[in-house]
Amino acid sequence: MNATATPATPNEKDRVVIFDTTLRDGEQSPGASMTLEEKLNVAELLDTMGVDIIEAGFPIASNGDFEAVCEIAKVTKNAVVAGLARAIPGDIDRAGDAVRHARRGRIHTFVSTSPIHLQFQMNKTEEQVLEIIRTTVARARNLIDDVEWSAMDATRTPIDYLCRCVEAAIRAGATTINLPDTVGYAVPEEYRAMFEQVRARVPDADKAIFSVHCHDDLGLAVANSLAGVAGGARQVECTINGLGERAGNAALEEVVMAMRTRSDVLPFACNVDPVHLTRASKLVAAVSSFDVQYNKAIVGKNAFAHESGIHQDGMLKNASTYEIMRPEDVGVKATSLVMGKHSGRHAFKDKLAELGYVIGDNAFEEAFRRFKDLADRKKHVYDEDIEALVSDEMATGGE
Ligand code: KIV
Ligand code: ZN
Repeated sequence: MNATATPATPNEKDRVVIFDTTLRDGEQSPGASMTLEEKLNVAELLDTMGVDIIEAGFPIASNGDFEAVCEIAKVTKNAVVAGLARAIPGDIDRAGDAVRHARRGRIHTFVSTSPIHLQFQMNKTEEQVLEIIRTTVARARNLIDDVEWSAMDATRTPIDYLCRCVEAAIRAGATTINLPDTVGYAVPEEYRAMFEQVRARVPDADKAIFSVHCHDDLGLAVANSLAGVAGGARQVECTINGLGERAGNAALEEVVMAMRTRSDVLPFACNVDPVHLTRASKLVAAVSSFDVQYNKAIVGKNAFAHESGIHQDGMLKNASTYEIMRPEDVGVKATSLVMGKHSGRHAFKDKLAELGYVIGDNAFEEAFRRFKDLADRKKHVYDEDIEALVSDEMATGGE
C-alpha cells in the first residue's frame, strides 16, 4: 500500500452516488439550524465539490424549510435536489412543489417498517403500511420521475417483511431504495447481508439503486455504509463532519477518503473532489456552530499533525511512514509537526532551520534541553517560545 497511490478506476457499475443530507438530517441535530443564506452557501459548495444529490430540507416542516428547498433547487447547477416527505399526501405534494424548481429534482419519501415503530409510533398493521407505501410512492411518482423511498428503521425490520415493502415501493415507481440504519444499531456484516438478501430476493431489484443511510450511535456509521456498498448499494447518504441526529450520520469526508485511499479493497469511485473537504468541514462547523473534534478523521485539526519524536522523525524522512493520505489532497496546506514534550532532536533541528537558526552542537544540545523543560510545563510551545529560548542561548554565549 502506498499513501500516494492513484485510485484504481472502477467500472461505471462501481460508481457510488454521494447523497449529502447535511441540510436535512444534519440540520435535525438539536442546535444546528441554519439560515437560508447559510444553507445556500453550503449547497453551493456541495454542488462545486461534485456531490450528486443534495437533500436540501423537509419542505412540510416549516415555511423556512420549504423556501430553502425552493431556493437551493433554483440555483443548483449540477446536483439533483431532493426534498424529504413523510408518507402523507400533503407532505409529498409540498416536497413536489419545492423541488419542481430544480433542473433535476427528487422526492424522498419514507415510512417506518420495523415492528417497534409500527406498534408504538404508527399504530398500524404490516398490511396497512404496505398499502401506504403503494399509494404514497405512486403519488410521488405522478409528480416527478425521480423518487426515493426509505424504509425507516430497516435494520430492525424482519427481512421477509422488508422484502415485501421494497417490492411494493419498486412496483409503485421508486427509483432509489434506501435501507437506513435509523438508530445506528447494525454491525457491518449484518448490514451488508441485508442488502445482499433484499437485492437477491426482491423481483426487479435491479430496477432501483439501493442506498445506505447510517447513524453513528455505536460509532459504526462509516463502516456500515461501506459494508452496505460491498453488499450492492450504490448510493451513500452522509453529511459533512458527520453532523446529524444524536451521534450523527456517516461522515461524507470519511466515506470519500476511505474509498479513495483503500481503492485496493473498496474498488468504488465517486464524483466528489476531495480537495474541497476541509473547506466544507469549516463552513459546516461555522454555520451549524458544531465544532469539529481535534482528532476527527480527515478534517480534525490534528488529522495531519504529529508530535511524537518517533513519528516526527519518520515524517521528516518520508511522509508515508505515518500518513496514509496527502494533506493537500483534502485541502490542507501541509502536515504540521507540532513541537511538544514528545518531539525529538530531528524535529527540533528542523524547526530551528525553519525559523532561520543555525547553531553549533553545544548550543543546540542546551537549547534542546531547555525546550524539553519548557514543553513539560507548557501545553503549547509556539514558534515564539522557541525563538526566545534560542536567542537567550545565543546571548549567554552558546555558539
Ligand atoms: O435515519 C433515517 O431513517 C432517516 C430517514 C428519513 C431516511 O433519516
Ligand atoms: Zn437519518
